[in-house]
Amino acid sequence: MHDEGQFFMREPWVYDPNALQPSAGDAEWGFATKALHAGFHPLDDLERFRAFAPPIVPSMTFPYQRFDKIPYPVYGRTKTPTAALLEERLATLEGGEACVTAGSGSQALFNLIFTIARPGDNVVTTLNIFGEGYKQAASIFPERCGVQFRFVEDPADPASWAREIDDRTKLVWVETPSNPCLFVTDIRAVADVAHARGVPLLVDNTTATAALQQPLALGADIVLLSITKFLSGNATVLGGAIVGPEALTEDIRWNTTEFIGAIMQPFDSWLTLQYLETLALRMDRHSANAQRVAEFLVAHPKVKLVNYPGLPDHPQHDLAKRQMKANGGLLSFAAPGGIPAVGRVVDSFKLIIHAVTFGASRTICMHPRTITHEHMTPAERDRAGIDDGLIRLSVGLEESDDIIADLDQALAKLSVTR
Ligand SMILES: Cc1ncc(COP(=O)(O)O)c(C=O)c1O
Repeated sequence: MHDEGQFFMREPWVYDPNALQPSAGDAEWGFATKALHAGFHPLDDLERFRAFAPPIVPSMTFPYQRFDKIPYPVYGRTKTPTAALLEERLATLEGGEACVTAGSGSQALFNLIFTIARPGDNVVTTLNIFGEGYKQAASIFPERCGVQFRFVEDPADPASWAREIDDRTKLVWVETPSNPCLFVTDIRAVADVAHARGVPLLVDNTTATAALQQPLALGADIVLLSITKFLSGNATVLGGAIVGPEALTEDIRWNTTEFIGAIMQPFDSWLTLQYLETLALRMDRHSANAQRVAEFLVAHPKVKLVNYPGLPDHPQHDLAKRQMKANGGLLSFAAPGGIPAVGRVVDSFKLIIHAVTFGASRTICMHPRTITHEHMTPAERDRAGIDDGLIRLSVGLEESDDIIADLDQALAKLSVTR
Protein backbone atom coordinates (compact mmCIF):
# COMPACT_ATOMS: atom_id res chain seq x y z
CA MET A 1 0.00 0.00 0.00
CA HIS A 2 2.80 2.43 0.86
CA ASP A 3 5.79 2.98 -1.38
CA GLU A 4 8.90 3.73 0.55
CA GLY A 5 9.76 7.39 0.26
CA GLN A 6 6.29 8.32 -1.01
CA PHE A 7 4.59 9.47 2.15
CA PHE A 8 5.82 13.02 2.77
CA MET A 9 3.79 16.11 1.87
CA ARG A 10 0.36 14.51 2.06
CA GLU A 11 -2.38 16.49 0.35
CA PRO A 12 -5.12 17.66 2.75
CA TRP A 13 -8.08 15.27 2.78
CA VAL A 14 -11.13 16.50 0.90
CA TYR A 15 -14.39 14.80 1.86
CA ASP A 16 -16.27 13.22 -1.03
CA PRO A 17 -19.77 12.19 0.07
CA ASN A 18 -20.13 9.96 -2.99
CA ALA A 19 -16.95 7.97 -2.47
CA LEU A 20 -17.59 4.48 -1.21
CA GLN A 21 -15.30 3.79 1.71
CA PRO A 22 -13.25 0.67 1.01
CA SER A 23 -12.54 -1.27 4.18
CA ALA A 24 -9.32 -2.86 5.36
CA GLY A 25 -8.81 -6.57 4.67
CA ASP A 26 -10.31 -9.71 6.19
CA ALA A 27 -13.88 -8.54 5.53
CA GLU A 28 -15.08 -12.13 5.17
CA TRP A 29 -14.23 -13.03 8.77
CA GLY A 30 -16.60 -12.68 11.70
CA PHE A 31 -15.84 -10.13 14.43
CA ALA A 32 -14.23 -12.47 16.97
CA THR A 33 -11.99 -13.96 14.29
CA LYS A 34 -10.86 -10.54 13.06
CA ALA A 35 -10.10 -9.50 16.66
CA LEU A 36 -7.68 -12.42 16.85
CA HIS A 37 -6.18 -12.51 13.37
CA ALA A 38 -6.44 -9.19 11.51
CA GLY A 39 -3.04 -7.83 10.54
CA PHE A 40 -0.90 -10.64 11.90
CA HIS A 41 -0.75 -14.35 11.28
CA PRO A 42 2.17 -16.36 12.69
CA LEU A 43 2.87 -17.92 9.30
CA ASP A 44 3.00 -14.60 7.42
CA ASP A 45 6.18 -13.52 9.17
CA LEU A 46 7.55 -16.96 9.91
CA GLU A 47 10.98 -16.29 8.49
CA ARG A 48 11.55 -13.18 10.56
CA PHE A 49 9.80 -13.88 13.88
CA ARG A 50 8.98 -17.59 14.26
CA ALA A 51 6.44 -16.50 16.86
CA PHE A 52 2.84 -17.24 17.72
CA ALA A 53 2.19 -13.82 19.28
CA PRO A 54 2.77 -10.54 17.41
CA PRO A 55 6.21 -9.08 18.15
CA ILE A 56 6.92 -5.76 19.90
CA VAL A 57 9.35 -3.60 17.93
CA PRO A 58 10.44 -0.85 20.35
CA SER A 59 12.70 0.98 17.88
CA MET A 60 11.85 4.68 17.46
CA THR A 61 13.87 5.17 14.32
CA PHE A 62 14.42 3.12 11.20
CA PRO A 63 17.69 3.14 9.25
CA TYR A 64 18.13 4.55 5.76
CA GLN A 65 19.57 1.93 3.44
CA ARG A 66 20.46 4.60 0.87
CA PHE A 67 20.82 8.36 1.14
CA ASP A 68 17.95 9.13 -1.21
CA LYS A 69 15.52 6.42 -0.10
CA ILE A 70 13.41 7.32 2.92
CA PRO A 71 12.67 4.24 5.04
CA TYR A 72 9.08 3.46 5.97
CA PRO A 73 8.44 3.76 8.86
CA VAL A 74 10.97 6.53 9.30
CA TYR A 75 10.47 7.74 12.89
CA GLY A 76 8.44 6.63 15.91
CA ARG A 77 6.32 9.75 16.24
CA THR A 78 4.26 8.77 13.21
CA LYS A 79 4.57 5.05 12.61
CA THR A 80 6.12 1.96 14.17
CA PRO A 81 5.62 -1.67 13.16
CA THR A 82 3.70 -2.56 16.35
CA ALA A 83 1.38 0.46 16.23
CA ALA A 84 0.86 -0.17 12.50
CA LEU A 85 -0.39 -3.66 13.34
CA LEU A 86 -2.77 -2.28 15.95
CA GLU A 87 -3.99 0.34 13.46
CA GLU A 88 -4.70 -2.34 10.87
CA ARG A 89 -6.60 -4.42 13.42
CA LEU A 90 -8.71 -1.47 14.60
CA ALA A 91 -9.51 -0.45 11.01
CA THR A 92 -10.60 -4.01 10.26
CA LEU A 93 -12.77 -4.27 13.38
CA GLU A 94 -14.52 -0.98 12.56
CA GLY A 95 -14.88 -1.91 8.88
CA GLY A 96 -12.87 1.18 7.87
CA GLU A 97 -10.13 1.68 5.34
CA ALA A 98 -7.36 2.85 7.67
CA CYS A 99 -6.55 4.03 11.18
CA VAL A 100 -4.16 6.41 12.92
CA THR A 101 -3.60 6.10 16.65
CA ALA A 102 -2.88 8.85 19.17
CA GLY A 103 -1.65 9.15 22.74
CA SER A 104 -5.25 9.25 24.05
CA GLY A 105 -8.81 9.42 22.78
CA SER A 106 -8.87 13.14 23.53
CA GLN A 107 -5.72 13.63 21.47
CA ALA A 108 -7.22 11.65 18.59
CA LEU A 109 -10.23 14.00 18.57
CA PHE A 110 -7.98 17.05 18.75
CA ASN A 111 -5.76 15.81 15.92
CA LEU A 112 -8.78 15.15 13.69
CA ILE A 113 -10.35 18.58 14.16
CA PHE A 114 -7.02 20.40 14.06
CA THR A 115 -6.29 18.68 10.74
CA ILE A 116 -9.56 19.31 8.93
CA ALA A 117 -10.82 22.68 10.30
CA ARG A 118 -9.47 26.21 9.75
CA PRO A 119 -10.35 29.52 11.47
CA GLY A 120 -13.94 30.40 10.56
CA ASP A 121 -15.00 26.79 10.12
CA ASN A 122 -17.40 25.04 12.48
CA VAL A 123 -18.27 21.60 13.85
CA VAL A 124 -21.81 20.53 14.71
CA THR A 125 -22.31 18.34 17.77
CA THR A 126 -24.40 18.07 20.97
CA LEU A 127 -23.91 18.46 24.70
CA ASN A 128 -24.03 14.66 24.95
CA ILE A 129 -20.26 14.34 24.73
CA PHE A 130 -17.42 13.41 27.05
CA GLY A 131 -16.02 16.14 29.29
CA GLU A 132 -12.65 16.69 27.62
CA GLY A 133 -14.36 16.75 24.21
CA TYR A 134 -16.72 19.42 25.56
CA LYS A 135 -13.75 21.46 26.80
CA GLN A 136 -12.13 21.28 23.35
CA ALA A 137 -15.45 22.29 21.76
CA ALA A 138 -16.51 25.01 24.16
CA SER A 139 -13.22 26.80 24.68
CA ILE A 140 -9.98 25.33 23.30
CA PHE A 141 -10.89 25.33 19.60
CA PRO A 142 -13.04 28.50 19.54
CA GLU A 143 -10.65 30.58 21.64
CA ARG A 144 -7.33 29.38 20.29
CA CYS A 145 -8.05 28.21 16.74
CA GLY A 146 -11.13 30.19 15.69
CA VAL A 147 -13.14 27.01 15.07
CA GLN A 148 -16.69 27.24 16.45
CA PHE A 149 -18.84 24.41 17.79
CA ARG A 150 -22.61 24.33 17.59
CA PHE A 151 -24.57 22.22 20.06
CA VAL A 152 -27.84 21.05 18.50
CA GLU A 153 -31.00 21.73 20.49
CA ASP A 154 -32.68 18.34 20.11
CA PRO A 155 -30.30 15.56 19.04
CA ALA A 156 -33.24 13.15 18.59
CA ASP A 157 -34.61 15.34 15.78
CA PRO A 158 -32.76 15.22 12.42
CA ALA A 159 -34.12 18.69 11.55
CA SER A 160 -32.35 20.07 14.60
CA TRP A 161 -29.02 18.79 13.21
CA ALA A 162 -29.83 20.14 9.75
CA ARG A 163 -30.47 23.64 11.16
CA GLU A 164 -26.94 23.96 12.53
CA ILE A 165 -25.06 22.89 9.38
CA ASP A 166 -23.86 25.62 7.02
CA ASP A 167 -21.24 26.12 4.31
CA ARG A 168 -18.43 26.33 6.87
CA THR A 169 -19.33 23.08 8.66
CA LYS A 170 -16.42 20.68 8.39
CA LEU A 171 -17.71 17.87 10.58
CA VAL A 172 -20.79 16.53 12.32
CA TRP A 173 -19.83 14.73 15.54
CA VAL A 174 -22.02 12.25 17.40
CA GLU A 175 -21.18 10.33 20.57
CA THR A 176 -23.49 7.34 20.98
CA PRO A 177 -24.33 5.99 23.49
CA SER A 178 -23.11 9.12 25.21
CA ASN A 179 -21.05 9.44 28.35
CA PRO A 180 -22.43 9.81 31.01
CA CYS A 181 -26.17 9.90 30.18
CA LEU A 182 -26.34 7.10 27.58
CA PHE A 183 -28.25 9.16 25.04
CA VAL A 184 -28.51 7.11 21.84
CA THR A 185 -28.36 9.00 18.53
CA ASP A 186 -29.73 7.64 15.27
CA ILE A 187 -26.50 7.30 13.26
CA ARG A 188 -28.24 6.62 9.93
CA ALA A 189 -30.56 9.62 10.28
CA VAL A 190 -27.77 12.06 11.21
CA ALA A 191 -25.52 10.64 8.45
CA ASP A 192 -28.26 11.37 5.90
CA VAL A 193 -28.60 14.95 7.14
CA ALA A 194 -24.83 15.53 7.11
CA HIS A 195 -24.31 13.93 3.71
CA ALA A 196 -27.12 16.00 2.15
CA ARG A 197 -24.94 19.04 2.97
CA GLY A 198 -21.70 17.36 1.87
CA VAL A 199 -20.37 17.06 5.43
CA PRO A 200 -18.75 13.93 6.93
CA LEU A 201 -20.13 12.29 10.08
CA LEU A 202 -17.83 11.36 12.97
CA VAL A 203 -19.14 8.82 15.48
CA ASP A 204 -17.40 8.32 18.81
CA ASN A 205 -17.70 4.55 19.29
CA THR A 206 -15.89 4.45 22.63
CA THR A 207 -18.76 3.33 24.85
CA ALA A 208 -20.14 0.63 22.54
CA THR A 209 -16.98 -0.45 20.68
CA ALA A 210 -17.05 -2.20 17.31
CA ALA A 211 -18.08 -5.40 19.09
CA LEU A 212 -21.54 -3.90 19.68
CA GLN A 213 -21.95 -1.14 17.10
CA GLN A 214 -20.60 -0.57 13.59
CA PRO A 215 -20.99 3.15 12.83
CA LEU A 216 -19.37 3.00 9.38
CA ALA A 217 -21.86 0.35 8.24
CA LEU A 218 -24.64 2.65 9.51
CA GLY A 219 -23.46 5.55 7.33
CA ALA A 220 -20.76 7.30 9.39
CA ASP A 221 -17.52 8.30 7.66
CA ILE A 222 -15.10 8.50 10.59
CA VAL A 223 -14.89 6.75 13.95
CA LEU A 224 -13.26 8.11 17.13
CA LEU A 225 -12.04 5.65 19.75
CA SER A 226 -10.64 5.97 23.22
CA ILE A 227 -8.52 2.85 23.54
CA THR A 228 -8.17 3.64 27.25
CA LYS A 229 -11.68 2.30 27.91
CA PHE A 230 -13.28 -1.02 26.87
CA LEU A 231 -10.87 -1.66 23.98
CA SER A 232 -7.96 -2.19 26.35
CA GLY A 233 -10.34 -3.06 29.15
CA ASN A 234 -8.40 -2.81 32.40
CA ALA A 235 -7.07 0.74 32.75
CA THR A 236 -3.47 -0.11 31.94
CA VAL A 237 -3.23 1.67 28.57
CA LEU A 238 -3.86 5.27 27.49
CA GLY A 239 -4.56 5.60 23.79
CA GLY A 240 -6.91 6.70 21.06
CA ALA A 241 -7.57 6.30 17.37
CA ILE A 242 -9.30 7.69 14.31
CA VAL A 243 -10.62 5.19 11.77
CA GLY A 244 -11.71 6.38 8.33
CA PRO A 245 -10.59 6.92 4.74
CA GLU A 246 -6.85 6.44 4.32
CA ALA A 247 -6.51 9.90 2.75
CA LEU A 248 -7.82 11.33 6.06
CA THR A 249 -5.82 9.17 8.47
CA GLU A 250 -2.61 9.91 6.55
CA ASP A 251 -3.44 13.62 6.42
CA ILE A 252 -3.70 13.52 10.24
CA ARG A 253 -0.53 11.43 10.55
CA TRP A 254 1.74 13.43 8.24
CA ASN A 255 0.35 16.93 8.62
CA THR A 256 -0.47 16.98 12.36
CA THR A 257 0.86 14.01 14.34
CA GLU A 258 4.25 14.26 12.61
CA PHE A 259 4.77 17.76 14.04
CA ILE A 260 2.95 17.90 17.36
CA GLY A 261 1.89 14.47 18.41
CA ALA A 262 2.69 10.89 18.77
CA ILE A 263 0.92 7.73 17.83
CA MET A 264 0.61 5.01 20.47
CA GLN A 265 3.79 3.57 21.92
CA PRO A 266 4.90 0.07 20.89
CA PHE A 267 4.34 -1.58 24.27
CA ASP A 268 0.89 -0.01 24.70
CA SER A 269 0.02 -1.00 21.12
CA TRP A 270 1.11 -4.55 21.83
CA LEU A 271 -0.86 -4.74 25.09
CA THR A 272 -3.95 -3.48 23.25
CA LEU A 273 -3.52 -6.19 20.62
CA GLN A 274 -3.58 -8.79 23.40
CA TYR A 275 -6.61 -7.21 25.07
CA LEU A 276 -8.57 -6.93 21.80
CA GLU A 277 -8.47 -10.72 21.52
CA THR A 278 -11.13 -10.90 24.26
CA LEU A 279 -13.11 -7.77 23.34
CA ALA A 280 -16.21 -9.56 22.03
CA LEU A 281 -16.39 -11.86 25.06
CA ARG A 282 -15.86 -8.99 27.47
CA MET A 283 -18.49 -6.76 25.87
CA ASP A 284 -21.07 -9.56 26.07
CA ARG A 285 -20.41 -9.98 29.78
CA HIS A 286 -20.26 -6.22 30.48
CA SER A 287 -23.65 -5.95 28.74
CA ALA A 288 -25.24 -8.85 30.62
CA ASN A 289 -23.98 -7.56 33.98
CA ALA A 290 -25.04 -3.98 33.25
CA GLN A 291 -28.53 -5.13 32.26
CA ARG A 292 -28.97 -6.92 35.61
CA VAL A 293 -27.55 -3.98 37.56
CA ALA A 294 -29.79 -1.50 35.68
CA GLU A 295 -32.87 -3.62 36.41
CA PHE A 296 -31.92 -3.75 40.09
CA LEU A 297 -31.38 0.01 40.28
CA VAL A 298 -34.57 0.98 38.47
CA ALA A 299 -36.61 -1.01 41.00
CA HIS A 300 -34.74 0.39 44.02
CA PRO A 301 -36.75 2.78 46.25
CA LYS A 302 -33.74 5.04 46.83
CA VAL A 303 -32.88 5.54 43.14
CA LYS A 304 -34.67 8.30 41.26
CA LEU A 305 -33.47 7.66 37.72
CA VAL A 306 -31.43 5.16 35.72
CA ASN A 307 -29.94 5.76 32.26
CA TYR A 308 -29.37 2.50 30.40
CA PRO A 309 -30.51 1.79 26.82
CA GLY A 310 -31.36 -1.81 27.76
CA LEU A 311 -34.24 -0.66 29.99
CA PRO A 312 -37.60 -0.66 28.16
CA ASP A 313 -38.42 2.87 29.30
CA HIS A 314 -35.14 4.37 28.05
CA PRO A 315 -36.24 7.01 25.46
CA GLN A 316 -34.15 5.42 22.68
CA HIS A 317 -34.59 1.77 23.72
CA ASP A 318 -35.95 0.69 20.32
CA LEU A 319 -33.29 2.61 18.41
CA ALA A 320 -30.57 1.01 20.55
CA LYS A 321 -32.03 -2.41 19.74
CA ARG A 322 -31.82 -1.67 16.01
CA GLN A 323 -28.44 -0.01 16.09
CA MET A 324 -26.49 -2.06 18.63
CA LYS A 325 -25.90 -5.75 19.23
CA ALA A 326 -26.12 -5.21 23.02
CA ASN A 327 -26.11 -2.20 25.31
CA GLY A 328 -22.63 -2.27 26.81
CA GLY A 329 -21.27 -1.83 30.32
CA LEU A 330 -21.86 1.86 31.00
CA LEU A 331 -24.88 3.24 32.87
CA SER A 332 -25.68 6.13 35.17
CA PHE A 333 -28.14 6.59 38.00
CA ALA A 334 -29.14 9.28 40.44
CA ALA A 335 -30.02 9.13 44.08
CA PRO A 336 -32.05 11.94 45.66
CA GLY A 337 -30.03 14.19 47.93
CA GLY A 338 -27.56 15.66 45.43
CA ILE A 339 -23.83 15.81 46.00
CA PRO A 340 -23.88 14.92 49.76
CA ALA A 341 -25.85 11.75 48.96
CA VAL A 342 -23.40 10.84 46.20
CA GLY A 343 -20.54 11.19 48.69
CA ARG A 344 -22.29 8.91 51.16
CA VAL A 345 -22.99 6.22 48.55
CA VAL A 346 -19.55 6.34 46.93
CA ASP A 347 -17.72 6.23 50.25
CA SER A 348 -19.81 3.23 51.32
CA PHE A 349 -18.80 1.02 48.42
CA LYS A 350 -16.68 -1.95 49.40
CA LEU A 351 -16.22 -3.56 45.98
CA ILE A 352 -16.96 -0.75 43.52
CA ILE A 353 -14.02 1.58 43.02
CA HIS A 354 -14.30 5.36 42.72
CA ALA A 355 -11.97 6.37 39.87
CA VAL A 356 -11.81 8.45 36.69
CA THR A 357 -12.26 6.08 33.81
CA PHE A 358 -14.70 3.46 32.55
CA GLY A 359 -14.58 0.29 30.53
CA ALA A 360 -12.34 -1.58 32.94
CA SER A 361 -12.75 -5.17 34.05
CA ARG A 362 -13.53 -3.96 37.60
CA THR A 363 -16.66 -1.98 38.39
CA ILE A 364 -15.96 1.75 38.70
CA CYS A 365 -18.09 4.70 39.76
CA MET A 366 -17.54 8.40 39.11
CA HIS A 367 -19.39 11.70 39.73
CA PRO A 368 -19.65 13.60 36.39
CA ARG A 369 -20.94 16.83 37.98
CA THR A 370 -17.73 17.48 39.93
CA ILE A 371 -15.20 15.55 37.85
CA THR A 372 -15.52 15.03 34.08
CA HIS A 373 -18.26 17.59 33.31
CA GLU A 374 -17.33 20.33 35.78
CA HIS A 375 -16.54 22.73 32.90
CA MET A 376 -20.11 22.78 31.61
CA THR A 377 -22.34 25.62 32.81
CA PRO A 378 -25.21 24.57 35.11
CA ALA A 379 -27.66 25.25 32.26
CA GLU A 380 -25.67 23.04 29.89
CA ARG A 381 -25.51 20.28 32.48
CA ASP A 382 -29.30 20.50 32.85
CA ARG A 383 -29.72 20.20 29.08
CA ALA A 384 -27.33 17.25 29.01
CA GLY A 385 -29.16 15.54 31.91
CA ILE A 386 -26.20 15.70 34.30
CA ASP A 387 -27.97 15.88 37.62
CA ASP A 388 -25.95 16.81 40.74
CA GLY A 389 -26.80 13.37 42.12
CA LEU A 390 -25.80 11.46 38.97
CA ILE A 391 -23.33 8.62 39.45
CA ARG A 392 -21.70 7.02 36.39
CA LEU A 393 -21.24 3.30 36.82
CA SER A 394 -18.98 1.27 34.58
CA VAL A 395 -20.18 -2.24 35.25
CA GLY A 396 -17.30 -4.68 35.28
CA LEU A 397 -16.84 -8.38 34.80
CA GLU A 398 -17.36 -9.50 38.41
CA GLU A 399 -20.30 -11.71 39.41
CA SER A 400 -23.34 -9.46 38.93
CA ASP A 401 -24.73 -10.57 42.34
CA ASP A 402 -21.66 -9.14 44.04
CA ILE A 403 -21.98 -5.77 42.26
CA ILE A 404 -25.67 -5.60 43.16
CA ALA A 405 -25.00 -6.51 46.80
CA ASP A 406 -22.44 -3.68 47.04
CA LEU A 407 -24.88 -1.18 45.53
CA ASP A 408 -27.62 -2.38 47.86
CA GLN A 409 -25.61 -1.96 51.03
CA ALA A 410 -24.34 1.48 49.92
CA LEU A 411 -27.82 2.74 49.00
CA ALA A 412 -29.09 1.51 52.37
CA LYS A 413 -26.93 4.23 53.99
CA LEU A 414 -29.14 6.91 52.42
CA SER A 415 -32.04 8.17 54.53
CA VAL A 416 -33.87 9.80 51.59
CA THR A 417 -36.08 7.91 49.18
CA ARG A 418 -37.34 8.94 45.73
C1 LIG B 1 -16.84 8.80 24.85
C2 LIG B 1 -15.41 9.17 25.06
N1 LIG B 1 -14.64 9.40 23.99
C3 LIG B 1 -13.34 9.75 24.12
C4 LIG B 1 -12.77 9.91 25.36
C5 LIG B 1 -11.33 10.34 25.49
O1 LIG B 1 -10.55 9.29 25.91
P1 LIG B 1 -9.13 9.42 26.64
O2 LIG B 1 -9.42 9.34 28.11
O3 LIG B 1 -8.39 8.23 26.11
O4 LIG B 1 -8.54 10.71 26.26
C6 LIG B 1 -13.53 9.68 26.50
C7 LIG B 1 -12.95 9.85 27.84
O5 LIG B 1 -13.63 9.77 28.83
C8 LIG B 1 -14.89 9.29 26.34
O6 LIG B 1 -15.68 9.09 27.40
